[in-house]
Amino acid sequence: MKPESESIRIQAEQSSHREHSVPVYLTSSFTFEDAEQMRAAFADETDDNIYSRFSNPNCQEFTDKMCVLEGAEAGYATASGMSAVFASFMALLKSGDHLLSARSIFGSTHTIISKFLPKWGITYSYADPNKPEEWEKLIQPNTRMIFVETPSNPGLDIIDLDWLGKLAKKHKIILNVDNCFATPVIQQPIFYGADLVTHSATKYIDGQGRVLGGVVVGKKELIKEIYTFCRSTGPALSPFNAWVLSKSLETLSLRMEKHSDNARLLAERFQNHKELDWLRYPFLPSHPQYAIAKAQMKLGGGVLTFQLKGGIERGRKFLNALKMASLTANLGDTRTIATHPASTTHAKLTEEERILSGITPGLVRISVGLENIEDIAQDIEQAIDFSK
Ligand SMILES: Cc1ncc(COP(=O)(O)O)c(C=O)c1O
Repeated sequence: MKPESESIRIQAEQSSHREHSVPVYLTSSFTFEDAEQMRAAFADETDDNIYSRFSNPNCQEFTDKMCVLEGAEAGYATASGMSAVFASFMALLKSGDHLLSARSIFGSTHTIISKFLPKWGITYSYADPNKPEEWEKLIQPNTRMIFVETPSNPGLDIIDLDWLGKLAKKHKIILNVDNCFATPVIQQPIFYGADLVTHSATKYIDGQGRVLGGVVVGKKELIKEIYTFCRSTGPALSPFNAWVLSKSLETLSLRMEKHSDNARLLAERFQNHKELDWLRYPFLPSHPQYAIAKAQMKLGGGVLTFQLKGGIERGRKFLNALKMASLTANLGDTRTIATHPASTTHAKLTEEERILSGITPGLVRISVGLENIEDIAQDIEQAIDFSK
C-alpha cells in the first residue's frame, strides 16, 4: 500500500464491538490477567500497554501512521512539538556534547538551545542556512547532533537535505530535522539521511487548530533512547489528542495539496505588488533556494512571507485591516492566518538575532488556508490598500 493509503487504513486493533472508526482509549492504565502477565509487561518481554505515559493504542496508531508517512523505523508521540524537540535533545545529548543548529529556527527551539542546553553543559553553534560552505568548519570533535528546520519558521530558508545528510554521515553526527512546515506529504528528510524527524503536530497534522501534539520518528535505536527518556519524564500525548491527530492524517495529503495550491496562487498574484518590498515563497523562482526547494519538495507548502513598503508600522496597520484572515499564533489551519513574528513568536530573540534569522521588523507571515483563493486574495488586497 502507498503511504497515503496506509495513513488512512492503519488502525488500532478492532474491539469486540467491531467498530469501523477507532474508539478513544481514555484510560490512564491497562489491566492484566494475572501477576505473571503484569511482570512480563514491566520486564519489556511483551509489548502490552501498561500505562498511558508509556503507550496507548491511540498514540500508537498515530505514531504508526507517522512512521509510514516519514519512512521511519519507530517513533514516540508527545504532548506538543516543543516536547518532541526537547526530548530529542535531552535523550541524546549529554554534558560536554556540542549541537550544531541552523540559525533560522522556531523561537522556542532557540530558547531551549541558547538558554537551557548550556545550563546542562551542552554547547551549541548556529550556522547560516544561506552559507552552507561554512557549516563543516563549525563541526567540532564533540558535535553529536545537527538540528535544522526546512523550510524555516518564519523566514522560509531552505536547507539542502541531500548535502546535509551526506555531511552528517561523513562526520557520524545525528541529523535531526524539524519537518513541521513541509510535512511528510511534501518532503521526507529520512530519505536524504536524517536520523530523526520532529513535528509540531499542532500545525498541518491537526490542520484545524484544535489540539496540541508532537511526534519524533526515526532510527529504532535513537527512538528507544527518546522513549526511555519520555517514559520517565512524562511528555506523553493525550489519547484524545492522538485520536484527533490520527483522524487528521487521513486527509493530510489532500489538505497539503490545497494549502500549497492556494499559497502558490497567492504568491504569484502578489509577488510584484507595488506596495510590497518583497515576497517569499519556496516555489517562486525569486526564492534564493528555489532550485533546492524544487529538488526536495513535492509542493511549495502553505506559508508565504512578505514585507510591506513602510515596514513595521505599515505591517501593523495591514494586520488590523484584515477582515477574514485570523490574527493568531498558530499556522497550518484550514483558516488563513496572518502574524507578525517579530512581535509575537520570535519576540524573545534580540533584534540582531532576528535579522540574522531573516526576520525583518516588518515581515508578515501568512499561513494560507483552504478558503476560496479569491476570498483570501481580496482580503489581503483590501488590507494592503487600507494600510496606505
Ligand atoms: C517549526 C516549528 N517547530 C516546533 C514548533 C512548536 O510546536 P508546538 O507549538 O506544538 O509545541 C512550532 C510551533 O509553532 C514550529 O513552528
